[in-house]
Amino acid sequence: MSADSGDGAALHVADLRAGYGDARVLHGLDLTVGRGEICAVLGPNGAGKTTMLRALSGMVRGRGTARLGDIDLLGRSPDALARLGVAHVPEGRGTFTQLTVAENLRLGAYSRRDRDGIATDLERVHHYFPVLKERLRQPAGSLSGGEQQMLAIGRALMLRPRLLLLDEPSLGLSPKLTRELFGIITSINERERTSVVVVEQNAHLALDVAQRAYVLETGRIVLSGPAEQIRADAQVAGAYLGYRV
Ligand SMILES: Nc1ncnc2c1ncn2[C@@H]1O[C@H](COP(=O)(O)OP(=O)(O)OP(=O)(O)O)[C@@H](O)[C@H]1O
Ligand SMILES: [Mg+2]
Repeated sequence: MSADSGDGAALHVADLRAGYGDARVLHGLDLTVGRGEICAVLGPNGAGKTTMLRALSGMVRGRGTARLGDIDLLGRSPDALARLGVAHVPEGRGTFTQLTVAENLRLGAYSRRDRDGIATDLERVHHYFPVLKERLRQPAGSLSGGEQQMLAIGRALMLRPRLLLLDEPSLGLSPKLTRELFGIITSINERERTSVVVVEQNAHLALDVAQRAYVLETGRIVLSGPAEQIRADAQVAGAYLGYRV
């Protein structure tokens, strides 16, 4: 059944393995994200969270299975996956600092040819992030940290993604801006029905917006379930993982 049918899981990952050279980092992850769901991925530093997103966006080679609707994600280039609707906002944001805000947003749509659709999506990005509209001619490098994060997500939206992979969107942002950004991520998810996988150190906030959560430790899933259940298990998680959820 295709993800567009509104039926079944949008992302289905089974026995996902990945690493760098001889170093195995992911030791077989099983993970499901329902269509239009927000899934939080939590875990300590070095657990493999970023590597998991890289495997899903083709930046590192993944083995096992990862299907988005009826599309096999593994074994494709990042470029091919972007065209199939996988948008990855990497750790550190990945905006082109020398280019203007407008140029960065246009690059987000580089694989698309539908001019009208692109114009509509640009309007959508301006709607979600009005501050970007005021900064269109400014070099991305001159934006504040929060604005750069908004630009990175805005650029990802220009792909009209079916799956949005966000790596630590709150990194370096104030608590207030972080809450605001998560509010926007939630409304994007609700309005566009985009499935979202969000890796976060701020477990509290991530569990507030997510329906489902996975906790990763040294390349394995050690805890998973509905977000409220993981939140309720916070004490267990704290004891188990040595950090507070
Ligand atoms: N390019 C790379 N080459 C070799 N090893 C790497 C590379 N990137 C990450 N690793 C290793 O893979 C492991 C998992 O790293 P990863 O970045 O996926 O963790 P993470 O859960 O995202 O951590 P953090 O919370 O610090 O961002 C770590 O041991 C790390 O040192
Ligand atoms: Mg990381």
